[in-house]
Amino acid sequence: MGRLEGQVAIVTGGASGIGEQTVRTFVAEGARVVIADVQEERGHHLAEALGTQTSFLRTNVAEEADVAGAVDHALAKWGRLDVMFNNAGFGGVGGPIDELDMAAYDQTMAVLLRGVVIGAKHAARAMKPARRGVILNTSSVAGLQAGFGPVVYSAAKAAVAHLSRCLAVELAEFGIRVNAICPGVTVTNIFAAGMGLSGPAADALLPRIDAALANWAPLGRSGQPADIANAALWLASDEASYVTGQAIVVDGGLTAGRSLEEFGQRLAAAMGLTPEQWQAMREAARGAGR
Ligand SMILES: NC(=O)c1ccc[n+]([C@@H]2O[C@H](COP(=O)([O-])OP(=O)(O)OC[C@H]3O[C@@H](n4cnc5c(N)ncnc54)[C@H](O)[C@@H]3O)[C@@H](O)[C@H]2O)c1
Repeated sequence: MGRLEGQVAIVTGGASGIGEQTVRTFVAEGARVVIADVQEERGHHLAEALGTQTSFLRTNVAEEADVAGAVDHALAKWGRLDVMFNNAGFGGVGGPIDELDMAAYDQTMAVLLRGVVIGAKHAARAMKPARRGVILNTSSVAGLQAGFGPVVYSAAKAAVAHLSRCLAVELAEFGIRVNAICPGVTVTNIFAAGMGLSGPAADALLPRIDAALANWAPLGRSGQPADIANAALWLASDEASYVTGQAIVVDGGLTAGRSLEEFGQRLAAAMGLTPEQWQAMREAARGAGR
């Protein structure tokens, strides 16, 4: 029996990357899933490939009527909503703060923060009467530390993590758990989309992005959509029934800290040590403190 057997989920941004893999994982674990995304061709294609356990609905998360429609669609088709994964996103507006285009700022926040708020609002509407449910929101390591995304994106992702804590407390009495997931750098089309690429042109870049990011995180490989989908599965399942109000980081150790080796090498260079002298100093340090 699957870990989400008989349950119904909505995955926004479900046509690509983390969302697509989560749809596949949830379906494999017995859930029926509404794929809610603006990418119609890709969304329909995925729903056709996965069969009657899925349904694609064109949904712009920035539009309340669209998200309300996705929730109504799940209720009308399958009679319940157990899991709402507010995952849709994009890089949004970039550039220096003193040149920020405020219309682009509004559009970015409309997707990354307003979209999550709307998703939580309509999920709670469906879940409160059932007195059970799980809301998952995709935040990011960019919401925890600077340097992993544009500033507006990063601020929105920080807000998503805190929104999740606040909603977890508000909705706990209704048996609804709310958590955020903070992916590290994960190999998806989000980077190509930021360059205006989509479809096969974006897919073709994935192996190169994978290789370029492989050694960044301490675990020595880049993050894959399945890494995040597996965390979403655990948080959605009853195995996490005592977990709420958390921002779960899945990043291969990227935000755990810096390498002591790198620090040491900088120090050695500042002290004018040769690699051999540095090595000798390290050997001597092994005996220190005895
Ligand atoms: N890939 C990473 O390194 C990374 C890291 C941290 C967080 N994230 C977050 O993960 C989430 C998923 O991104 P991904 O990496 O899988 O990228 P992706 O581009 O593969 O998938 C994002 C999906 O969201 C959809 N989308 C965008 N705007 C939408 C809107 N207004 N309404 C509905 N759907 C919309 C896109 O069509 C796409 O299918 C995003 O919230 C992103 O910010 C990604």
